Amino acid sequence: MDAPNLLNPERRMLRAMQLSDAARTWDLESVLAACDWTDQAVAVGAGHGLQNHGLVEVEETTLSEVRLDVAGEQAVQDGLLEARLWSWMQTTDEATMQALQQRFERHEAGPGVGLLKQLGVAIEGGQLVAQDPETMTAVIEQRTAFLHSLPLDSSDADEAMLKHFSSRKNLVQTVERTERRWRLTSAGESVSADDLQETMVITDLTPELLQSEEWKTAEFRAFDVALEASTPRTGRSHPMQALIERIRAIFLEMGFSELVDDYVQSAGWNMDALFIPQDHPAREMQDTFYLDSPASIDLDDEVMNAWKAIHEHGGETGSTGWGGSYSTEVSKRPLLRTHTTVNTIQYLAKHPQDACRVFSVDRVFRKEAIDRTHLPEFHQIEGIIMEEGANLQMLVTTLKTFYAKMGYPEVRVRPAYFPYTEPSLEIEVKWRGKWLELGGAGIFRPEVTEPLGITSPVLAWGMGLERLAMLVLGLDDIRQLYISDLEWLRNQPIL
Ligand code: PHE
Repeated sequence: MDAPNLLNPERRMLRAMQLSDAARTWDLESVLAACDWTDQAVAVGAGHGLQNHGLVEVEETTLSEVRLDVAGEQAVQDGLLEARLWSWMQTTDEATMQALQQRFERHEAGPGVGLLKQLGVAIEGGQLVAQDPETMTAVIEQRTAFLHSLPLDSSDADEAMLKHFSSRKNLVQTVERTERRWRLTSAGESVSADDLQETMVITDLTPELLQSEEWKTAEFRAFDVALEASTPRTGRSHPMQALIERIRAIFLEMGFSELVDDYVQSAGWNMDALFIPQDHPAREMQDTFYLDSPASIDLDDEVMNAWKAIHEHGGETGSTGWGGSYSTEVSKRPLLRTHTTVNTIQYLAKHPQDACRVFSVDRVFRKEAIDRTHLPEFHQIEGIIMEEGANLQMLVTTLKTFYAKMGYPEVRVRPAYFPYTEPSLEIEVKWRGKWLELGGAGIFRPEVTEPLGITSPVLAWGMGLERLAMLVLGLDDIRQLYISDLEWLRNQPIL
């Protein structure tokens, strides 16, 4: 037989076993003594290695042991609470509830009275009276003796006592322990002593080792690639977070800057600015989360006047507007943003004349019943491009480029309707042979841009992140994304 490639501790342990009676059974203590080790882990590791090579047999027994817990150690020092209460009762000349509460602190007095009652102490007109002092003394002594007898093997511990103490906090604990015994196999017996000389066995290559001369004479440990190993479980991003990072990287690479803004917004910016009529059904309470606090959000009068003109008669744009009468109270109502377009439009209002490319991946809220494809809280991938000469072709190309970089080369657009864009598009991506709608896009209407002083065309889009995530991760239920099933999370591909 070829000499097995053993680590030094394995060599030492095997040699020690060979030098003794071959049939001997070794426990941990005798291995430690024979090898001159103090670290139990070294012995257990060496035993394990030898077992893998078939040189020793291991017998493992799992024992459970009852030990003192923190409160138990305290009780061994100071006495159990009932013992201290009982000795106080026997020595004081005023064994009343009131005196007890004065003498013992609150965290002891409360549970203490309970313990006394269980031990047969009655309270008669405020007086504490032991019904059966002898039994009481005996029970308390038994309990104390039990604590002093720990640690004990679970099977040796009195069951009634165990039951009693496990119902009390932190007094005793049961701990599992594995006991191992090793015996030489015939293969272990026949390894020659020469092969068990301890040498420098190298498991890890280090720069220091390579620079020194030592490696020339050292022995290298061979890797057994056939051995089973556990999969290391390292921390990793949630698939949604990883997806968001990837989307960010793509937009940044395409020359966009990221915009981050608040969830709480006014109906004015969320809707009026986008020429969504004030009586639009999507504004209803059953679709939008309105907030009671703050009671209202202050808006610039000039901006509201401009929206008023646009909504009522189209302002200066030549549009007819929606007619009716526009309410500034409605504009000031606070809500949880229903789309991230509320943020891009405000960005534009602040920089109406500077060409820009801006994106965001952020959370929006709609009062949706939760089902396979809907959540009341979800994310949108939003973006705008404003520059002189921007056109529909550029919008479509940008979206196609984005999805191609995400791994979906087949994208098509179809006509759609949004109150704030003209033309308006729906974006669809082909997945497993079917076209799936992922979002909306378009060019902002003059009714949106004119009141804010924007003169260049603005291309805009808003797409569902969770929808895309379902494609990427191959899910058919949107809820799966946020259930945090650890097994599922661990098995997700790294994006
Ligand atoms: N805001 C729209 C939505 O929430 C998407 C969209 C954004 C459409 C920008 C056109 C332009 O569905």
